[in-house]
Amino acid sequence: MQPRGQEAAMADIRHAEATGRDRPERRTALFEPVACVPLDRPVSLIETGRLMRENPMSILPEALFRETILTGPYIGKSVHEISGPAEMRSVLQENFHAWRKSPLILRMLRPILGDAILTAHGESWRRQRMSLQPAFLRRRIERFIPIMDEVAAATVERLARAPQPVEVQSVLNDATFSVIEQVLFSDAVEFDRAGVRAAIEVILEETGTMRMSDLVPMPEWMPRIMSLRALRARHVFRKAALAQIRRRRAQGDPGDDLLGLLLKMRDEKTGQKLSDTDIRDTVMTFIAAGHETTAIALTWTLYLVANDGETQERLRAEADGVLDGALTPEAMARLSFTRQVIEEAMRLYPPAPILGRRAVEPTEICGRPVKKGDVVLLAFYALHRHRTLWEHPDHFDPDRFGPDRRPQDRYQFMAFGGGPRACIGASFAMMEAAIFLARFVSRLSFTPVEEADVYPVMQVTLRPRGGMPLRIARR
Ligand code: HEM
Repeated sequence: MQPRGQEAAMADIRHAEATGRDRPERRTALFEPVACVPLDRPVSLIETGRLMRENPMSILPEALFRETILTGPYIGKSVHEISGPAEMRSVLQENFHAWRKSPLILRMLRPILGDAILTAHGESWRRQRMSLQPAFLRRRIERFIPIMDEVAAATVERLARAPQPVEVQSVLNDATFSVIEQVLFSDAVEFDRAGVRAAIEVILEETGTMRMSDLVPMPEWMPRIMSLRALRARHVFRKAALAQIRRRRAQGDPGDDLLGLLLKMRDEKTGQKLSDTDIRDTVMTFIAAGHETTAIALTWTLYLVANDGETQERLRAEADGVLDGALTPEAMARLSFTRQVIEEAMRLYPPAPILGRRAVEPTEICGRPVKKGDVVLLAFYALHRHRTLWEHPDHFDPDRFGPDRRPQDRYQFMAFGGGPRACIGASFAMMEAAIFLARFVSRLSFTPVEEADVYPVMQVTLRPRGGMPLRIARR
């Protein structure tokens, strides 16, 4: 375990002095994991483009970790970078109607996801959200616990048997893909799992890579040009999904899984069922939004746990107590420290570290005027490590999410976004991540690879550059 730096200790003392509070009895040595190097100088638009292509995280200015809003010019308009809870609430909740998702994101995602919930707007989005929301209620998703647990157990075996060290990110990606695929198509027949999986990887990879031309403002209705490879992959995915949808319709019983729910869903206004195309795009949306994010959250969690023996032991003690019998929803509720660890991992490495929105009408952010066409970058990464909001912000301290210390402001921890468009799958993801982490630590032990050069890069999600090698042994 890495010793806690003197600078962090000083920061604690300054914080305690500033807040007038005595520091409660806490652990004295906290692990300080790798952090993105912030930008400490002004850069030209061309250089911004270069940095964005390499790693969009490197455009976050150092000042954003101390200030809560910074405004700069952007091709005749302004770009506002925000990192404070009040600013987040203003954009995502209070002035929700003045903002739309950034045209770039829509141009990148629409060719893949169509007009499904993640990319839809206005009335179309509202109706989809209303209809889909019940499918993600806790009591509905609890029926997926056995699928998640089975995949977790298989993943334990895979991790234990793999040659050491293990690159865990790809293993976890396979695992979360397997969960979402089974939750959607529990009874799939003639479904080329490997082929569909490979196609989705191609599509997501192409969608997630920034191009220089992406910096040129374009209308959102103009889709980004897709490569032939990605077009072919899209065809493979669509054909496979449609075959499953049609097979289900033909057999007369929609089924009890997520696909069954989509097949039964009716538009609240027209009473009409969803079309095959709508269902296909929603299926793709759940796969795109739901598997890599969860895998990334778990990847960073394991990195942190591998580097913090004390936390690993506490997790293990909790898991051993809970996993004794069947994994019921009641047993799940007792995995509270496990959840704290996952939340703290997502604070340090939010899987979606920056979101963009564009103003569709004049508005304001906490008193700062915003013109129509201005862009806002919601820097969750900077919010989560903000110097004025968190004690020792760059250190791993799962107890900060304990019942007595959790942030009081809902907009201080934004891993799942906020406002009406917050993540619909948050409970699903937390349930899945908690089952995986508990199963992992109860059967396996994790240690870091000393020579590994771990660094976070943003490629839609915040991934470790070159993967995450860890040493894993059976207990
Ligand atoms: C740790 C895992 C996850 C993280 C960190 C995450 C994060 C997010 C964030 C930040 C947003 C807001 C995007 C925005 O406002 O522009 C979002 C939206 C969304 N997420 Fe998740 N997500 C996760 C897992 C899931 C899962 C498992 C599913 C589905 C099975 C899912 C489905 C969605 C959908 C459909 C939306 C769009 C909601 C809307 O626009 O109304 N996510 N997610």
